[in-house]
Amino acid sequence: MSNTIGNTYRFTTFGESHGVCVGVVIDGCPAGHKVDLNHIQSELDRRRPGQSNLTTTRNEPDKVEVISGIFNGVTTGAPICMVIRNKDRNSSKYETLRWTPRPGHADYTAEARYGGHQDYRGGGRFSGRNTAALVMAGALAKQIIASVGVQVMGYTAQIGDIQAPEPTVEEIKEHTESNPVRCPDQETAEKMIQAIEEAKIDSDSIGGKVKCLALYIPPGVGQPVFDTLEGDLAKALFSVPAVKAVEFGAGVLLASMRGSESNDPFNVKDGKIGTESNNSGGIQGGISNGMPITCTVTFKPTPSIAQPQTTVNMKTLEETTINIHGRHDPCIVPRAVPVVESMTAAVLLDHLLRSGHVKQVMEEQK
Ligand SMILES: Cc1cc2nc3c(=O)[nH]c(=O)nc-3n(C[C@H](O)[C@H](O)[C@H](O)COP(=O)(O)O)c2cc1C
Repeated sequence: MSNTIGNTYRFTTFGESHGVCVGVVIDGCPAGHKVDLNHIQSELDRRRPGQSNLTTTRNEPDKVEVISGIFNGVTTGAPICMVIRNKDRNSSKYETLRWTPRPGHADYTAEARYGGHQDYRGGGRFSGRNTAALVMAGALAKQIIASVGVQVMGYTAQIGDIQAPEPTVEEIKEHTESNPVRCPDQETAEKMIQAIEEAKIDSDSIGGKVKCLALYIPPGVGQPVFDTLEGDLAKALFSVPAVKAVEFGAGVLLASMRGSESNDPFNVKDGKIGTESNNSGGIQGGISNGMPITCTVTFKPTPSIAQPQTTVNMKTLEETTINIHGRHDPCIVPRAVPVVESMTAAVLLDHLLRSGHVKQVMEEQK
């Protein structure tokens, strides 16, 4: 079992969907960082259920509670524990599903792996609810990397087959939060909303893509050959439930390019080495090259759908049909944007600590 990620900025998550709480213990956080708890709360609010009628109706306040590691508003260097309580738990629907795994969900594989001892209520440890712990660790990481000028921002780039035009950084910053799908282009956002609503009316679900950018990462960050920046980011992003592909830069499109097209020619701007294009997504040889780190994360459609589906009874080995009546997001993508940003920020902080760009004891902050 592995519930811990990271080398220097290292965190362990705990909790289940219908247990007491969901939380995180962060070890290796630099001492002396003045924590902005309102920011951590606002990041949790971006992930929270019930933000709009495009999300699950589960009603959770997701209020962050700090248990340890922050004293007088400042990180002490000791483990930081943060939790949110589970308030709106209704496990009754899951008793009827106990032996009939939901297609696309982790019910069957969890049964196979944990011998039937897993908490199956609401997806237990496999629930999207556990991503709140990732957001708490990531929000804190975002604050610390901001102190060395690094910014991380994500947006919804695709829902179903509706794709957003490539936005500028300003458009991402100004418009992403202005609609419930978190797409910086308003016209595309409306089409995406419609696609999600149509899936919901059909008792179905829909997938999509989140794009994430990290700006102002200095060149020279990354630990080849096994802890490459791409490798660690990919691992972190694949730990987010429902992620099925992670690409950097031009990603899978590189397969159909020639080297003359895919190479990023070097240039010098304001005395700094950069590249004209960014097909490699700011990483070469597993090390940052100073250009924005860009990645695209693909989410599958939400597995739980309110249509009759074929499954098996794991006890009797008979084929049967299930009807799922729990509360589910028709599309995971809009709520996953802050989760993708969080995992990106946490990995970047880990590597910035390892490269010495962020110090173990922070300079005094005003
Ligand atoms: C923010 C978020 C919310 C999610 N909400 C749901 C949901 O309401 N219903 C559901 O069936 N799956 C939901 N999922 C996805 C499942 O947790 C995931 O598909 C399942 O654990 C199986 O893992 P896999 O898809 O990575 O193989 C959510 C995922 C995330 C990131």
